[in-house]
Amino acid sequence: PSQFAVFGHPIAHSLSPRIHQGFAQQFGITLEYRTIDATPGDFADAVRAFFIAGGTGANVTLPHKGAASSLADERSEAATRAGTANVLTRLPDGRLVAHNTDGAGLVRDLTERHRVDLRGHDALLLGAGGAARAVAWSLLDAGVQTLTIVNRTPETADALADAIGEPARVHTRYWDDLANLGSYDLIVNATSAGVLGGGLKLPMSLVGARALCYDLAYGAAAIDFVAWAKAGGARYAWDGLGMLVEQAAEAFALWHGRHPDTEPVYQSLRAEG
Ligand code: ATR
Repeated sequence: PSQFAVFGHPIAHSLSPRIHQGFAQQFGITLEYRTIDATPGDFADAVRAFFIAGGTGANVTLPHKGAASSLADERSEAATRAGTANVLTRLPDGRLVAHNTDGAGLVRDLTERHRVDLRGHDALLLGAGGAARAVAWSLLDAGVQTLTIVNRTPETADALADAIGEPARVHTRYWDDLANLGSYDLIVNATSAGVLGGGLKLPMSLVGARALCYDLAYGAAAIDFVAWAKAGGARYAWDGLGMLVEQAAEAFALWHGRHPDTEPVYQSLRAEG
């Protein structure tokens, strides 16, 4: 069977093997999909060893997404924009291609699963690191009207806005000013505060009457943000489990040429969480 793996550190609790096996079953595909724990120092060598040993494709998660983009020989447009990659594929001549399916995964979760039309939304993006860069262009392509980027370190938000280069639609504001910004229709938490356990202090005034609040993280890491959004009266408050499944489906389609039905896999993971 063809071989796949997800690289991370830590990686033991990754849902990716189950997700990809669930997709593969839909098509009667037999594949190997394992987790590989690599420290940042070992990551590049571990990836090369995996592909030299016959690996077909890899997923990459924290903290290796930047390194995955850097080590590849070619990058998709999404990976180039984000500067990070969550998928690596191997060309017949052995060169590696970096892809980033996180942004497409988020938009698919919002528009296909949750049936939200993002056009005309005023969106607030919290954070400007790798996760934020991976979704910023996708939100704009999906039709959000304005995107306000706020980051604890303002220079990083400015750098992302400059990279996008649409000054009429994309603005930055200061984190310390969050209480004075008014409200938004879409609030995306792309900070790693929940993952790191360093609680975010967000003013309720950000949550507009029809607000959709979305944390790119899922499970325990998203609990605080989702609770804040609900307390603020958000119309919807979701964690990133759907995005996780959708980014995996986009990777599966790159590798196998077919797009799986994500709903049964999503429902079974949701039922456990
Ligand atoms: P990821 O790949 O998860 O995006 P990252 O590139 O390290 O990880 O980015 C982490 C993001 O979370 C950054 O925007 C970071 O803000 P800084 O640029 O100021 O470091 C943000 N972040 C992490 N902890 C935070 C906290 N407690 N409050 C606010 N922002 C936080």
